[in-house]
Amino acid sequence: MRTAPDSALNLLVTGGAGFIGSNLVLTLQEKFPKAHLTVIDDFRSGDFKNLAGYKGDFVAQNLASLDWNRQFGNDRFDTIFHLASITDTTNHDQFEQVHDNVESFRRLLDFARPTRTRVVYASSASTYGAATAASSETSEAAPANVYAFSKAMMDNLAQRCARETPAWVIIGLRYFNVYGPREAHKGVPASMIYHLSQQIRRGERPRIFKHGEQQRDFVYVKDIVAGTICAMQGKESGIYNLGSGQARSFNDLVQILNQSLGTKFEPDYIENPYAHYQNFTQADLTNAKRALGYEPRFPLEEGVRDYMQWLYSA
Ligand SMILES: NC(=O)c1ccc[n+]([C@@H]2O[C@H](COP(=O)([O-])OP(=O)(O)OC[C@H]3O[C@@H](n4cnc5c(N)ncnc54)[C@H](O)[C@@H]3O)[C@@H](O)[C@H]2O)c1
Repeated sequence: MRTAPDSALNLLVTGGAGFIGSNLVLTLQEKFPKAHLTVIDDFRSGDFKNLAGYKGDFVAQNLASLDWNRQFGNDRFDTIFHLASITDTTNHDQFEQVHDNVESFRRLLDFARPTRTRVVYASSASTYGAATAASSETSEAAPANVYAFSKAMMDNLAQRCARETPAWVIIGLRYFNVYGPREAHKGVPASMIYHLSQQIRRGERPRIFKHGEQQRDFVYVKDIVAGTICAMQGKESGIYNLGSGQARSFNDLVQILNQSLGTKFEPDYIENPYAHYQNFTQADLTNAKRALGYEPRFPLEEGVRDYMQWLYSA
């Protein structure tokens, strides 16, 4: 990355009205107050309310059909953060998922290629499919749904571009199970931490799949944003896991929520209706730590406490 002063930094975030995108945008604004920030989003799942306090530019466009050169002409960006995506994993429209997610990325890469603009994009741990141990980036992609397939195709495209143009840095980040402020707009696809906390607050027993022994790498959005910003400095192209590095059980999570919310609910165990379910996720962070200097700061207890304060302290 060129080491420009803040005032000369020109940063673009796609999907900036969404959960992780809005947290990233607001953190970039705080960290680089003089930078020029632009968000692109078509609001298909995002919400303008996530960007309260945002002072930059906003382009309301669908990336699957955006003509980048027409929109931006000779504008040069230092980094393009690409987070826009259909994020509802239960959307089984194969054409829509793959077309919108992959073609949006292809258009963006075609724009970034001639100037070798650094691209940092969101991939997903869902590309690993069923796992029983910590996943490292060399594990084969085994997408179990079409959303995960679209992310695996984006990884393939990014790797091909990076191979063909070695001086161009393209960094993919496989986010694990992210939770935190500004996710409520997602509705059903919001994190289970959000949904369980809502059930508890309504005085209901938190509903988890039988018998709560499933383990996930739940990662706080503040760590994800910090890791994504670390990718502005990564020296070479690659795909890296971003998670907490810890696999924690659903039963653990209910206990931690009880502690944070001052309640004592027992889990209500329900049947899992999903045939293909990730019963275990855990990020092997060796590569992200080495290449990006990523270091998660929020164990589940800390992240949940911080998040519950944000959600319910008003
Ligand atoms: N939240 C997680 O746990 C998680 C895990 C792994 C990967 N990811 C990835 O992180 C990124 C952000 O996810 P999120 O949780 O913030 O979801 P989100 O749904 O809140 O954000 C996605 C944003 O992209 C926008 N968008 C979608 N398609 C678009 C298009 N074609 N053109 C313009 N805008 C478009 C939506 O309106 C929304 O604002 C996504 O790429 C997602 O796949 C998220």
